[in-house]
Amino acid sequence: MLYEEKIIADWSADMYEIDETGTEDVAFMLSCLGATSKRILEIACGSGRILVPLAKTGHTVVGLDVDEAMLRKIPAKAEGLDNITWRTADAIEDDWGRGYDVVVIAGNFLMNIVSEEGPERAQQILMEKARLALKPGGMLYIDYNHTFYPEQWYVYPGERVIWQGTDNYGTTGRMLLCDSTYDAETGLIQSTRRYELETADGEKIRKEMSSVKHFVSLEQIRTWLAEEGFCIEDEYGDYAGNPIGETTGRAIICAVVMEEKK
Ligand SMILES: C[S@@+](CC[C@H](N)C(=O)[O-])C[C@H]1O[C@@H](n2cnc3c(N)ncnc32)[C@H](O)[C@@H]1O
Repeated sequence: MLYEEKIIADWSADMYEIDETGTEDVAFMLSCLGATSKRILEIACGSGRILVPLAKTGHTVVGLDVDEAMLRKIPAKAEGLDNITWRTADAIEDDWGRGYDVVVIAGNFLMNIVSEEGPERAQQILMEKARLALKPGGMLYIDYNHTFYPEQWYVYPGERVIWQGTDNYGTTGRMLLCDSTYDAETGLIQSTRRYELETADGEKIRKEMSSVKHFVSLEQIRTWLAEEGFCIEDEYGDYAGNPIGETTGRAIICAVVMEEKK
């Protein structure tokens, strides 16, 4: 990894820890998983925000993520637990293993996946790999940002500060999202992510990266899941358990696979 990329990855991991402290999604997930202890794989577990509470509740959990700076946050939170493991892996390129009771694709990872495959194909591959990793009767749990009006959510000109602050190494600055557009034909959301950082040594880093995400409609996710042989058991639009509707902001889907894929 280049020096500049490492500074950005370390700073981003610390900003994620400071900003993304939600627990509502985890509590709702736990209520859907039931009381019996399960073998759970979380794809893109990041800093363990979801993975660690799942382990603390008694589930046996495995997490994988491509970002080592994020994974480095887990050991301190997982101290004393012997039912949690994690590893560096690319969700598209690498093997997930087999025989899981539950695969978790949450924290909006479905929309945030980064892959050479391009976002839409990568999302579909996630469904294929989840099916392979689950044992018969196993459940895929998906939670992502969903709206019936993506053109209202994702189109905004100008700049928005997403993160601002100083990390544990003394690097300080901000990350902005600029000029987000949405194409209703392709479902692609395009924007520029700009980092404006200064290290503790006074070195200035300014980096722009283009970001392309793909909005997954309800119809599309239902089709992908059906194609992989999943049966959708439950769908919710928020953490109060309301159905997906005009005013809800998420798609939370519990889908069960009936046969192991050969
Ligand atoms: C928004 S974070 C979610 C982390 C965690 N699930 C949570 O909810 O707190 C998205 C994570 O996806 C990871 N990620 C993105 N593309 C990936 C890929 N192709 N393979 C594995 N992890 C990936 C990033 O490194 C990041 O940790």
